[in-house]
Amino acid sequence: MNQRAKVLVSRRIPQPAIDMLAARLEVEVSEHDRPLTPEELRSRLAGKQGLVCLLQDKINEQLLSAVPELKVASNVAVGYDNMDLAAATRRGVLLTNTPEVLTDTTADFAFALLLAAARRVAEADRFVRAGRFTEWKIDLLLGQDVHHATLGIFGMGRIGRALARRGGGFDMRLLYHDATRQPAEVERELRLEYVSKETLLGESDFISLHVPLLPATRHLIGAAELAMMKRTAILVNTARGPVVDEQALVDALKAGGIAAAGLDVFEFEPRVHPELMQLDNVVLAPHIASASVATRRRMAMLAAENCIAALTGRIPPNLLNPRVLEKKRL
Ligand code: DGY
Repeated sequence: MNQRAKVLVSRRIPQPAIDMLAARLEVEVSEHDRPLTPEELRSRLAGKQGLVCLLQDKINEQLLSAVPELKVASNVAVGYDNMDLAAATRRGVLLTNTPEVLTDTTADFAFALLLAAARRVAEADRFVRAGRFTEWKIDLLLGQDVHHATLGIFGMGRIGRALARRGGGFDMRLLYHDATRQPAEVERELRLEYVSKETLLGESDFISLHVPLLPATRHLIGAAELAMMKRTAILVNTARGPVVDEQALVDALKAGGIAAAGLDVFEFEPRVHPELMQLDNVVLAPHIASASVATRRRMAMLAAENCIAALTGRIPPNLLNPRVLEKKRL
């Protein structure tokens, strides 16, 4: 394109990414410290070819049909359940995400939640702040050992494998379940045992979720699955809230069906189930698994790079729907 393409950034992202976009494109950044409403997104996208968006922005048929000039929507996230891939492909809009750059940071946080829930870190913090630490006691805030325990991982993609490495460092037995099995050399290297869903649920002391949100993974963990877990089991979710049936989880946590949970994501985010707030055996976080300074910056830079590539005639490094380009070549 000779003229500089126009791009909307739907919410403020780290400045180096905005500078990078501005060096090649005409950039408008939303001034609001909140997601744009669908109407705002639609009207501000009029006449623009690019969008750098966040996971609250719904890139669906309704939006795409209203903004025919749009050529690319670049998500600042690895997950892209906010985007309708089929609709975008039909309409020739490129979609991109930000894999790789957040893998280790997210796995660190999943392990942090696992440790916090097992060793009751948040509860202990509340205990001390409440002025209740009056003496050392042999049975004060007893938790569960992580080392040498069994870790079950649902979803053995990049983040699942990074979590497995951390579990290996704690001498854990590592079970996993996924739609596809890892190559034998990966299983060997990481000491992974591929098991059925039922075995994973029944034998794991800790269960961590690393699947994308798809129709097939919605409520992957519901009442039936929770009932198969050990009563001492701890569930960690840094994937997407709707992967877990939150009401069933609350019921299991209240009834002692499982011991505890560490949650970074929620079924009706940002709303958190009110009963989760009341439970001491849950560690809650506001969707921050990838939130390190360096990683959030890398995610924004990668999203900028994807957007620039798409609007300057190159193939974006993290293109989700290459079919759009194939169709153009036909
Ligand atoms: C993602 O990247 O999908 C996260 O949920 C936000 O970091």
